[in-house]
Amino acid sequence: MTNTALITGASAGIGREFARYHAAKGGDLIITARRGDALNALKAELEAAHGISVTTIAQDLSSADHAKTLYTALNGAHIDVLINNAGFGGHGKFIERDLAADLDMIDLNINALVTLCHLIGNEMVKHGSGKILNVSSTASYMPGPLQATYFATKAFVSSFSQAIAEELKGTGVTVTALEPGAVATEFFETANLTGTKLGADSASADAVAKIGYNAMLAGKLTIINDPKLRFALGWLMPYMPRKMKLKMVRDMQEKS
Ligand SMILES: NC(=O)c1ccc[n+]([C@@H]2O[C@H](COP(=O)([O-])OP(=O)(O)OC[C@H]3O[C@@H](n4cnc5c(N)ncnc54)[C@H](OP(=O)(O)O)[C@@H]3O)[C@@H](O)[C@H]2O)c1
Repeated sequence: MTNTALITGASAGIGREFARYHAAKGGDLIITARRGDALNALKAELEAAHGISVTTIAQDLSSADHAKTLYTALNGAHIDVLINNAGFGGHGKFIERDLAADLDMIDLNINALVTLCHLIGNEMVKHGSGKILNVSSTASYMPGPLQATYFATKAFVSSFSQAIAEELKGTGVTVTALEPGAVATEFFETANLTGTKLGADSASADAVAKIGYNAMLAGKLTIINDPKLRFALGWLMPYMPRKMKLKMVRDMQEKS
C-alpha cells in the first residue's frame, strides 16, 4: 500500500470526504466506522474511481480497548496519515442526560483518539515521518452549556493535539487539529441538535475536509475552516466576560 491513510468515522460526513480527497490524490485507505455497509459502498466507489486500494474495518470505537482492537486488526500495516475523525455530540442538561451516553462520548472523542495517537504515533516516530489530523471543533474554545461533555471533549482534543505537536518537533511527525464550525452532516441529528440555532449557517463536509487535509499537509498546528469564525474566536471571544460567553453559547443551543 502507498501513502496509506487510516480514517476513523469514514462511513459518513466529514470522514467520508477525507477518504474521497485522499483517494483522489492517489493514496490508499484503511477506513473504519460501525456501519460496514457504508464503508463497503465507499470502498467500491473509490477503488473504481481512483484505482487505489481500500481496506474496511467495521468497528465500534467507543472504548480505548476497541481502539486497541482496531490497531491489532491493522496487522502491522504502515500508516502514513492518521485522521482521528469519529466523534459525536449530545444535546441536553448534563444532569438529565444518560450518563452512559456521555461516557461513550468521552471514550470515542477522547480515549480512542489518544490510544490511536499513541500506538500509531510511536510507529510514525520510528519511521521518521507521518501526519496526524485530529478533528476537534470550534467548541474547543469555550464551555458548552447544553452540550457540556461534548465541548469539553473537544477542548481536550485541541489542547492534547497542540501539546503533542510540540513534543514531536524534529521527529518528522506532525499533528494538526481541525476545528470546524457547523458542518452539514448527520452530526446534528445524532446529537439531537435540530431546532437549535446551531447549524443555521453550515459549511459543506467536503469543503471542510479539504481545508483540514491541506492544513495537515502543510503541518499547521490548528485550522478553523471559516475566516469569520477564526476572527471571532481568536480576537473577540477571549475578551468576552465568562458569564456572557456561557449565556451566549447556551442561547445558541436552546431549542426554539
Ligand atoms: N458536523 C459538525 O457541525 C461538526 C462541527 C465540528 C466538529 N465536528 C466533528 O467532526 C467529526 C465528524 O463528524 P461529522 O460531522 O462528520 O458527523 P457524522 O456525519 O455523524 O459522522 C460521524 C462519524 O463517526 C462515526 N462514529 C460515530 N460513533 C462511532 C463509534 N461509536 N465508533 C466508531 N465510529 C463512530 C460514524 O460512523 P458509524 O455511525 O458508522 O459508526 C460516522 O462515520 C466529529 O469528531 C465531530 O465532533 C463536526
